Amino acid sequence: MKTLVAYFSKNGENSVNFEVKNINVGHTEMLANKIARLTGGDMYPIAPKVPYTGTYDEVLRRAKQENEDASYPEIANPLESIAEYDVIYLGFPNWYRSFPRIIATFIKSYDFSGKIVKPFCTTEEGTFGLAELELAAMLKDADLRSGFGILGKDVEFCDEKLKLWVEK
Ligand SMILES: Cc1cc2nc3c(=O)[nH]c(=O)nc-3n(C[C@H](O)[C@H](O)[C@H](O)COP(=O)(O)O)c2cc1C
Repeated sequence: MKTLVAYFSKNGENSVNFEVKNINVGHTEMLANKIARLTGGDMYPIAPKVPYTGTYDEVLRRAKQENEDASYPEIANPLESIAEYDVIYLGFPNWYRSFPRIIATFIKSYDFSGKIVKPFCTTEEGTFGLAELELAAMLKDADLRSGFGILGKDVEFCDEKLKLWVEK
């Protein structure tokens, strides 16, 4: 089984435990690294053509607008295809109780039929919000498995729980 660990994550200003902090490695990226180590999968950081730089508030405003427009932000480093992969771990931060729109761009760009998709998500509160439902609507032909959601501040302590989910 060939595995891809595809994820979007943002460093720079972010909300950590309800405080705005500057972080070098995003929470979702930290989780993606752990999943890649456990699975031996190929890492694929989904990079936006227009990076989400700026202050936390500026990113909030841009993300809100992208949601309202149901936009598909362009990916700077698209994969040619995902045909060679059987299992796709798909990671993202919870943005406005769902996934960032760039995840919609990623899903729309490839044929997921028959692929096992395992979503993972980091958040400030709660877990996936509406993301799993919205993923199910977009990934009708895939074998979508239940996801792994965790607070960003707990990522460094989740190894045992994560291993159980990966092995499920
Ligand atoms: C634009 C934006 C919207 C967010 N919306 C939510 C939200 O609705 N619920 C929540 O729990 N956290 C929300 N957060 C916080 C992130 O989900 C959380 O900080 C996450 O761990 C960031 O992951 P990353 O470091 O990989 O980007 C939001 C953050 C941003 C930047």
